[in-house]
Amino acid sequence: MQPTSPIFRATRFLAIGAAAAAAFGLAAPGIAEDAAKSQPTKAERTIEYRQSALYLLGWNIGPIAMMVKGEIPFDAKTVELRAMRLAQVAPMIAEGFPPDSQTGAPTKAKPEIWQNMDDFKSKAAALELATTRFAETAKSGDPKLVAAGLGEVGKACKACHDQYRAD
Ligand code: HEC
Repeated sequence: MQPTSPIFRATRFLAIGAAAAAAFGLAAPGIAEDAAKSQPTKAERTIEYRQSALYLLGWNIGPIAMMVKGEIPFDAKTVELRAMRLAQVAPMIAEGFPPDSQTGAPTKAKPEIWQNMDDFKSKAAALELATTRFAETAKSGDPKLVAAGLGEVGKACKACHDQYRAD
């Protein structure tokens, strides 16, 4: 734990509060227990990490999908930026699924992931490839090519969700 992290500071603050409360003869145990509970477990942090990375994918693909569907005007610069972000985030997915993160916080990750880790990783790699290609395609600014590229990326998302994400 970095000494400067907000959690560390919050914990220290509560600990000082508990010590002060004890010094003044107040009921301190509750405060000390809260301080201990405020530390997220390793599994909680890992699950939050992967859900955040996946949330970023959803956040960035959303506007492109809306453009392709004609729900908002096509904007080549936005497509290029968001496609680049998808390619940057895709390689961050696999490391969010170490063996000790199957449980420990609410998750839609199915246990099958850890029984078929090689296949899961190959699906993550397929997304990396599709998003890297898509980031190149997006530079063309051609709505037809973008629609086709988005389709390829969407297939890579779906292939993994169908098998490894609970509904
Ligand atoms: C290699 C497998 C895999 C690929 C590829 C994949 N996902 Fe997922 N996705 C998951 C799993 C597993 C979860 C559930 C994670 C959890 O709850 O811990 C998930 C959850 C999500 C979530 C919910 C995150 C949250 O807030 O909890 C979003 C949004 C999402 N994925 C979007 C996408 C998009 C968009 C793509 C493609 C660009 C994609 N995913 C590709 C496996 C994958």
